[in-house]
Amino acid sequence: MHLVKLDATDSTNQYLKELILSKTVDDFTVVVAKNQRKGKGQMGAKWQAKPGMNLTFSVLKKFESLNIADQFRLNVCVSLSILKLLKNLSVPDLSIKWPNDILSGSSKICGILIENIITGQQITASVIGIGLNVNQTTFNTLTNVSSLKLLLGKTLNLDELLKHLLENIESTFMKEDYATNNALWLAYEKQLFRKDKPSTFKDANDEIFMGFIRNISPQGKLVIELEDAILKQFGLKEIKLLY
Ligand code: BTN
Repeated sequence: MHLVKLDATDSTNQYLKELILSKTVDDFTVVVAKNQRKGKGQMGAKWQAKPGMNLTFSVLKKFESLNIADQFRLNVCVSLSILKLLKNLSVPDLSIKWPNDILSGSSKICGILIENIITGQQITASVIGIGLNVNQTTFNTLTNVSSLKLLLGKTLNLDELLKHLLENIESTFMKEDYATNNALWLAYEKQLFRKDKPSTFKDANDEIFMGFIRNISPQGKLVIELEDAILKQFGLKEIKLLY
């Protein structure tokens, strides 16, 4: 593992993506920054984190053969690696809000942005960006957000947390069957936020509807049971869970 520590950069995901273009970068190179000037979130959102108080880092994972059809496996592996760390810290009421927000209760404490480098039908490498709210205790206008300090009542050491998290991620990807292992997929589904609970959603046309999150399709879509036991799959841009 190769660790690059930066005081500031626009985005650690962006930094790693540019690094890959400029030279050969070792598998499991990690870039961590105290401050991101333009941290990126899912679907074009910003990732806001106060400098020096949180973990904002990206991991380069190279693959010899990973079909793009299996790309959701990466979300599963990374989400479960983070959950393992948070469970060890006794963070209460943990769940995964599909596709990969980590919640405690209904508050987000960690976000994941995976950007894949694709050749043909193969993912040759992924830049796995993780933002974990650690010691920050105020979040301006953001709602449904929390941090480890708020939840555990103590300040945590960022270097130690990073070390354990990287160990978890590395050991998950060392398992030869990480891309096919059904137990990992089931463990992910089991941890889904609001699984099997009556929930309210908004679709791409701003229509509000009720349904039950049941599971995840092999393509990584959210499977929701609607009225009359009809199962419907939704992609990331097609649905928002209201909570
Ligand atoms: C989300 O929940 O919207 C995803 C947030 C991902 C944030 C991390 S912080 C480190 C890495 N660099 C970025 O610019 N984004 C990711």
